[in-house]
Amino acid sequence: MKGDIGVIGLAVMGQNLILNMNDHGYKVVAHNRTAEKVDEFLQGPAKGTDIVGAYSLQELVDKLESPRKIMLMVRAGDVVDSFIDKLVPLLDKGDIIIDGGNTNFPDTNRRVAALKEKGIHFIGSGVSGGEEGARFGPSIMPGGSPEAWPFVKPIFQAISAKTENNEPCCDWVGNDGAGHFVKMVHNGIEYGDMQLITEAYQFMKDGLGMTHDEMQSVFIEWNKTELNSYLVEITSDILGYKDTDGEPLVEKILDTAGQKGTGKWTGINALDMGIPLTLITESVFARCLSSLKDQRVEAEELFGKKKSIVEGDKQVWIEALRQALLASKIISYAQGFMLMREASNENGWDLNYGNVALMWRGGCIIRSAFLSNIRDAYDIDPELSFLGSDSYFKGILENSMSAWRKVAAKSMEVGIPMPSMTSALTFLDGYTTARLPANLLQAQRDYFGAHTYERVDKPKGEFFHTNWTGKGGDVSSTTYNS
Ligand code: 6PG
Repeated sequence: MKGDIGVIGLAVMGQNLILNMNDHGYKVVAHNRTAEKVDEFLQGPAKGTDIVGAYSLQELVDKLESPRKIMLMVRAGDVVDSFIDKLVPLLDKGDIIIDGGNTNFPDTNRRVAALKEKGIHFIGSGVSGGEEGARFGPSIMPGGSPEAWPFVKPIFQAISAKTENNEPCCDWVGNDGAGHFVKMVHNGIEYGDMQLITEAYQFMKDGLGMTHDEMQSVFIEWNKTELNSYLVEITSDILGYKDTDGEPLVEKILDTAGQKGTGKWTGINALDMGIPLTLITESVFARCLSSLKDQRVEAEELFGKKKSIVEGDKQVWIEALRQALLASKIISYAQGFMLMREASNENGWDLNYGNVALMWRGGCIIRSAFLSNIRDAYDIDPELSFLGSDSYFKGILENSMSAWRKVAAKSMEVGIPMPSMTSALTFLDGYTTARLPANLLQAQRDYFGAHTYERVDKPKGEFFHTNWTGKGGDVSSTTYNS
């Protein structure tokens, strides 16, 4: 009997996905560039299963039933291109290559188009959930050649996580790089959620002077509220974890955050598309700032250590913080969905936002109860332009407003950096202000560069220039928006 699917790449995600596919009755052919890895896998975790090995790409191809489905679980970038180049001459028309890595979506656009010319289908799929997700049910976000989806769908939907109603956290996202785009936004939101949690932690630790056991209890309680999520849950575990000397391990970890680039790509895309994705972008910058450790140590010495003490009833502050975190999270998701909406319009992807929320409901790093409410919001209005306008989320934003402002103001007053929580509030203030000061900005542009402006008392699209000093000419510069 030939194999149902081949997987190339036996690192942690590859191995666990293969074992998951095997659990669901699929015969998997496993290949790795280094042959010893294949043997190690077959004699180790895959022992006693139906998984078979392939020691060359030719052997892999020969062992698969048609149309062949070959999934690459290798490092994003050149390695993917190099495997594609080696596989294509061995494949038949109609065969399918799947890239399950964290690929930058323009690469997927390019690969779908290039392989289409050769009659090969290509799927670029986000896979989220880390090691455990891959093993027992990840969130899977596939996009690319739609012709390939019916062949891959049964396998992917079988191995994916399921919601509480047993719906698979995997569905077709859209053409070209749509799957990888949505995974990128997932990761951007992951950056935002993590940053928000760390801001709450710093407020509790430095501002309220709480112990790690107290903070752990707070996160355990928060996990029983609308904040119920995987990231809040693991945060409570982390805060309770003691090093061998009995002290909290988290305080022994160097405070410089790493990043592999998906959050940065989200920010870059937002800038390219003109979407004010402030919270996620602040989260990326917060990681950048954290990495300037030596400079920060010097600067603290230069400027003096901040006292950061927050006076007042601790329980009241903790509840205010919970509300500020929840409200900020709504803004982060609202901005992420705005970005997906713009990308969908620009690329003709026809994204289904309710389905995206469903795919993120289970299995992935940002899985949370909250995503069911997002799905409901898009069920009510599939074209909702701002998540915060949905009645459920609008209610939370309004109810949290006073607590959110207090936390933001206090953080500024005592010097606790909370870039994501405060920028979320600033965004909402801007978004809900009918008249912003951009009129003055337009006047400045026209004053120094004759860039022209539109008038509130004239139709949009009509441009005016004023000779502000009486010294300049009446010639205006070309008007265009980048
Ligand atoms: C997932 C994660 C994963 C990501 C890591 C690390 O969905 O399982 O998003 O894809 O690579 O979380 O990302 P950073 O190193 O950029 O923090």
